Amino acid sequence: MIYLDNSATTFPKPQKVREAVLRSMQTEANPGRSGHRLSLKASEEIYLARKTAVRLFHVRGEENVIFTLNCTAALNLVMKGLLRSGDHVVVSEMEHNAVMRPLAHLQSRGVTFTRAKVYPFDHDKTVDSFRRSINASTKMIICTHASNVWGLRLPVERLAALAHQYGLTICVDAAQSAGVLPIDLRDSGIDYLCIAGHKGLYGPMGTGMLLLNSESLPDSLTEGGTGSNSVSFEQPSECPDKYESGTPNLSGIAGLRAGMEFVMQKKQETIARHEFQLIRRCYQGLSSEKNIRLYFPEPDPDYFVPILSFNFIQADSETAARMLHQNGIAVRAGLHCNPAAHEMMNTLSTGAIRISPSVFSTAAEIDRALEIIRKTAREWK
Ligand code: ALA
Repeated sequence: MIYLDNSATTFPKPQKVREAVLRSMQTEANPGRSGHRLSLKASEEIYLARKTAVRLFHVRGEENVIFTLNCTAALNLVMKGLLRSGDHVVVSEMEHNAVMRPLAHLQSRGVTFTRAKVYPFDHDKTVDSFRRSINASTKMIICTHASNVWGLRLPVERLAALAHQYGLTICVDAAQSAGVLPIDLRDSGIDYLCIAGHKGLYGPMGTGMLLLNSESLPDSLTEGGTGSNSVSFEQPSECPDKYESGTPNLSGIAGLRAGMEFVMQKKQETIARHEFQLIRRCYQGLSSEKNIRLYFPEPDPDYFVPILSFNFIQADSETAARMLHQNGIAVRAGLHCNPAAHEMMNTLSTGAIRISPSVFSTAAEIDRALEIIRKTAREWK
C-alpha cells in the first residue's frame, strides 16, 4: 500500500515513537499519584514531554503545555472555556468541524460568529476581511493555520497582530501545520495554539496539546483527580492541573515526546521541503491530465502546506477513491470533516480526493500513485 493520507494521521510512525510507547507501558505506572518508582518515572516522562513541547514551540514554561485527547479537545477547551453569551468571534470561511461544531453548539448559548472570507494568494485582503468582520462584541479570532482540504495557509501572525490591535485574543488550529511550519509562541502573538499529536508530530492517535500563551485562561471543562491538593473538592487553579483531571494517556504522551524529538532531529524545514517536492511532483504529474481537475496553481510554500486535493472530472471523489484504494493507493476523499472548505470551492456535492505525504513518502511512491491515478482517470467510464 502506498499511504498518502498523512493529513488524517501519519503512517508509519517512526521506530523511536513505537519504542517509546512500548517502553512506557513496560516501565511506567500512573504519574503523580503514588510515590513508588514506577509512578515517579511516569511523572518524569510527562515532565520531559512538556519540556520537549516548550523547546519545539517556544512555550513560556512547561505549565503552559496542556495534554489533551486530540486537537478537537484542545479547541473545545478554548472555545467553551472562554466564550460566554453575548460574545462574538471571527473565524475563517474554511474552518474544520472541530471549530464549526463547537461554535454551532455555543450559538445555542448566545455566542455569535462571522465567517471571514479568505483570499488564497492575497494575505492583505484576507487580513482586511477579518478586520471588517470584527464588531463591538468580538472577543476572539479562531482560525486554522492551514486548511486540511486545500492546504491553504492563513497569515496567523498578522491575524494575531490584528486581534491584539482590537484587544482580542486569537486561537489557532494547528492540526495540519504543527511539525511542518515553524511556530514560535514567543513572537507569533498566538494566544492559544491547538495541536494534533498524531499528524505532523508523528505521535500516537489520541494525543493532542493546548499551548497557552495568554494571561486569560479558559475555565476547565473537566474536573476531577489530579494527584495534587487532594484534600480540596475545588479544582486546582494552577496549570496544567486545572485542565488535566483523571489518568492521562501516558504511553501516548511518551510516544508524542518521541515524535517531537524526531521532528526536531529531522528539522521541520527539511521535512517541509521534502513533502513540498513530492506535492509539486504530484501537481506536475496531474496538471496536464484532461480528466483531472485541480483547484489552485502549483502550490507555493508561502501560501500552502504540502497537501493537494483534486477530482476526476467524471466521478465523485469517494467513488474515484474506492478505485484508488483497490489499487493500493491510500488517500482520503469526501468532505474531510470540513464542509466549509468545500463550500468555499464549490465542491460540496463531489468532495475531493486528497493527497498528503509525510517524511517517509518517496518520489518512487508518488510516481507509482500518479501512474495509477492517471490510468484510472483515463479509463473511467
Ligand atoms: N482532520 C483529519 C483529516 O483531515 C482527520 O483527515
